[in-house]
Amino acid sequence: MANGERLEVRPDGLEQLNQVTAYACRDEVALILIDSPPVNALGGDVRRGLLEGFTRAANDPAARAVVLACAGRTFIAGADIREFDHPDLDAPGLHAVLDVIEACPKPTVAAIHGTALGGGLETALCCHYRVASPSAQVGLPEVALGLLPGAGGTQRVPRIVEAEAALAMMAFGKPVPAARAEAMGLLDALIEENLLDGAIRFARGKAHEGSAPVRVRDRTEGLALPHDAQLFARFRRDNARAFKGYTAPEAIVRAVEAAVTLPFEQGMQREAQLYGELIAGRQSAAMRYLFFAERQCTRIPDLPRDTPPRPIAHVGVVGAGTMGSGIAMTFLDAGLPVVLVEREEEALARGLAAIRSNYEASRDKGRIDQATLEQRMDRLTTSLDMADLAEVDLVIEAVFENMALKQEVFAKIDAIARPGAILASNTSFLDLDAIAAVTARAPDVIGLHFFSPANVMRLLEVVRGAKTGPDVVASAMALARRIRKVAVLARVCDGFIANRMMTPRMDAARALILEGPMPWEVDAAMRDYGFAMGPFAMLDLVGLDVIGWDAATSSSSTITEVLCERGRWGQKRRAGFYDYDDKRRATPSPQVETLVREFQQTSGIAMQPFSHEEIVERLLLPVVNEGARLLEEGIALRASDIDVALVTGYGWPAYTGGPMFWADDHGLPRIVAALEAMGETPCALLSRLASEGSALHEFAPGKIPSNA
Ligand code: CAA
Ligand code: NAI
Repeated sequence: MANGERLEVRPDGLEQLNQVTAYACRDEVALILIDSPPVNALGGDVRRGLLEGFTRAANDPAARAVVLACAGRTFIAGADIREFDHPDLDAPGLHAVLDVIEACPKPTVAAIHGTALGGGLETALCCHYRVASPSAQVGLPEVALGLLPGAGGTQRVPRIVEAEAALAMMAFGKPVPAARAEAMGLLDALIEENLLDGAIRFARGKAHEGSAPVRVRDRTEGLALPHDAQLFARFRRDNARAFKGYTAPEAIVRAVEAAVTLPFEQGMQREAQLYGELIAGRQSAAMRYLFFAERQCTRIPDLPRDTPPRPIAHVGVVGAGTMGSGIAMTFLDAGLPVVLVEREEEALARGLAAIRSNYEASRDKGRIDQATLEQRMDRLTTSLDMADLAEVDLVIEAVFENMALKQEVFAKIDAIARPGAILASNTSFLDLDAIAAVTARAPDVIGLHFFSPANVMRLLEVVRGAKTGPDVVASAMALARRIRKVAVLARVCDGFIANRMMTPRMDAARALILEGPMPWEVDAAMRDYGFAMGPFAMLDLVGLDVIGWDAATSSSSTITEVLCERGRWGQKRRAGFYDYDDKRRATPSPQVETLVREFQQTSGIAMQPFSHEEIVERLLLPVVNEGARLLEEGIALRASDIDVALVTGYGWPAYTGGPMFWADDHGLPRIVAALEAMGETPCALLSRLASEGSALHEFAPGKIPSNA
C-alpha cells in the first residue's frame, strides 16, 4: 500500500449488515463501513451490504447525512477482479448498487484513505462528496486490465474534471495523489485529523447547510471548462506509440468524447457498449491473467509465506559498469544506502557520473526535485577497496561476465563480508553453483539478475542455486518488493528464464532470413505483434560484435559474421543490419539486402514469401517450446511466471498475456502441429499436454523444481 495507513474503526453501536459490511447511526450521521480484507474489493457481499446500508440510511429518520468508509488498509480498491470470470450472479450488480447510492436524498460522503481505485473511485463518485486523507490516492487503473472504467467513471469524471486531465487519468491509469485530486476537483476536502471523525463532521455540516445535494451526474464544472476542439485527435496522435496494439485506450478516448458531447444517459450507454466489447475480448483476459500472475510469482511452494527475511539495510555493489550503476540506483531510489566498489578508478568515476547524469535527466524532466537528487547521491559511497563491503547486508556482484573473474571476486567477498550477509551475482548466463562453490557459504549465495537499464526494467530474476538457503530466497523476494521489482524465481541453467526464452527467437530470425524475408520484414512482423523492436534492430542496438564475434577465429560463415568483418557492428558504427543517420534513424541497407540475397542463393533452401503471421509463428513458436522445456526441467515454477518474466523483462506485449498464455489460447494441438510443420521437435511435455487436451497453465502449478 502506498502509505501504510490503516483505518481502525470501532464506533459504538456498529451493527453488522453481513460479514463484510456494518451500519451505525450516531449524532445524525449514518456510517456504512466496509471491512473486507485485503483491499475491500467490490465482491458480491460488499455490494449486498452497500445496497442494504444505503437503503437503510435513506430511510433512517435519525440519519441526516451518510458517510461511506472502509476499515483496514484502504478504501475500495476496485471491482473484485477474481469475480470477472466467476461472477456472483445472486448478488446485486454494481450498477444497481450505484444507482441506489446516487439516489440517496441525504448528503453522502465517501471517506477515502489508501487507494480508491477503479470501481472504488466510481462508487465514491456516486456519493455527493469525497473527502480523503492527505496520503490517499485515487485512480482509474482499468486500462491496465485492458478495460475502461465501466461503472460510470468515464462519464462522471469529465463532469467535474477538465476533459484532458480526465482522459489522461483513465488512458494511463496512474493513481493521482490526494492533493492533486483535490486541485482537479475530484476531492472536496483533505482531512488532516482522524479521517472518520473529519468525514462525519463534514457530512453533518452539509446536512446543516440544508441545500439539496447535487449528484456528480448533474454537475457541469468539468464540461464548462474550455477544451480545444482538437483535444481527442491530438491525444490519439500524441500517444499513438504508447497505445499501439492496445484496444482499451481508444475505447476510453471514445467514452470520454461521449461524455463531453452526449447527455449523461446516452454517454452511459456508450460506456456500457465499449466496456462490453473490452471485457469480452482476449486482451482484457490476458491482462487480468497477468495481474494475478504477477502476484502469484511470490508464492513458492516449499517456502512458507511467513519465512522471515533477513534484514537488509545497507547494500554493496561490485562493478560500476552499465549494470552496477543501474543496480546501485535501484537501491538508492528505494532509500537504501549503497557502497559501490570498483577495481579501476576511471570506471568508478564513469559509473558515478552516469548515476548523477541519470538523476539530473530525471530532475530536468520534472520526475524528481533537486533535494531528492541530492538525497539519493548522499546515500551513495564509492570505493576501490573491497574491504568496504565488510558491513553490508547484501553484496551484488556485477563485474564482467567471466567465470574466473566472478569466482575470484566471490572468494574475496566471502573473506570480507560479515556472517549472514547475502552474496548475490548479477550473472546473465554463468553457473551460479560454480560461483557459490568458491565460497564457504553457498547457502548465502543467490542470483539477482537485473535487466538493463536496471533502474527502469521491472523484472528481477531471483536465481536459486542448488544450495541457496530458503530464508535467502525469501529475503530476495521481499527485497524485490521494496525496490519495486517483480521477482520471478528461476533455477540455475544457461540464461535462466528470460534470456533463455528469447534465444530461440533470435535463432529463428537468423534462420528465417535465409528463406526469403529480409531482416526489416522480420522486424516489421515482430513490431506488428507488439514488440517495440524487432530482433535485427535489437542486434544493431546491442552491437553485432558483442554477441560473440571474434575477428581472429570467426569463419565469416554467417551473415552476422560478414557484417562484423565489414565493420557493420550496429548503431555505434551507424551501420549494421540497417543504415543509421546521425539521429540514429534506421533505414534498410541495400548492402545488407545484397548480402542476404547471396546467402539465400547459396543456402539451397527454396525461397518463399512469408506473411507477417507466418513470420510471427516461425519466431515465437520455438519460444513456446523453450518455455515448455523450462517447466519440464523445473527451471521455472509455473507457466505464468515465464509470461511475467517476458512481459516485464523483454517487452513482450502485455495484451497477448505472454508466450505461454498465447500458446494456451491458440490451443496446444495447433502449436504442436505448427512446430512439427516447421521442422522443430516439440518437447515431450508440450506433446503430452497437447495430447491430453491440457494446457501449459495446468501443468503442476506450483510444482517444486526437480533440481532442488
Ligand atoms: N480484486 C481482487 N483482489 C485484489 C484486487 C481486486 N481489485 N486488488 C488487489 N487484490 C488482491 C491481490 O490479488 C492480493 O492478493 P494476495 O495477497 O492473495 O496475492 C491482495 O489483494 C493485495 O494486493 P497487492 O499485493 O497488489 O497489494 P498492494 O498493497 O501492493 O497494492 C493495490 C494494493 C494498490 C490495491 C493493488 O492491489 C491494485 O492495484 N489492485 C488493483 C486495483 C484495480 O485494478 N482496480 C480496478 C479493478 S477493475 C474495476 O474496478 C472495474 C470496474 O469498472 C468496476
Ligand atoms: P560492464 O562491462 O559495463 O561493467 C563491468 C564493470 O566491472 C567494469 O566497470 C569493470 O571495471 C568492473 N570490474 C571488473 N572486475 C572487477 C573487480 N574485480 N572488482 C570490481 N569491479 C570490477 O558490464 P555490465 O554490462 O554492467 O555487466 C556486468 C554483469 O551484469 C555481467 O555479469 C553481465 O552478464 C550482467 N548483465 C548484463 C546485462 C546487460 O544488459 N549489460 C543485463 C543483465 C546482466
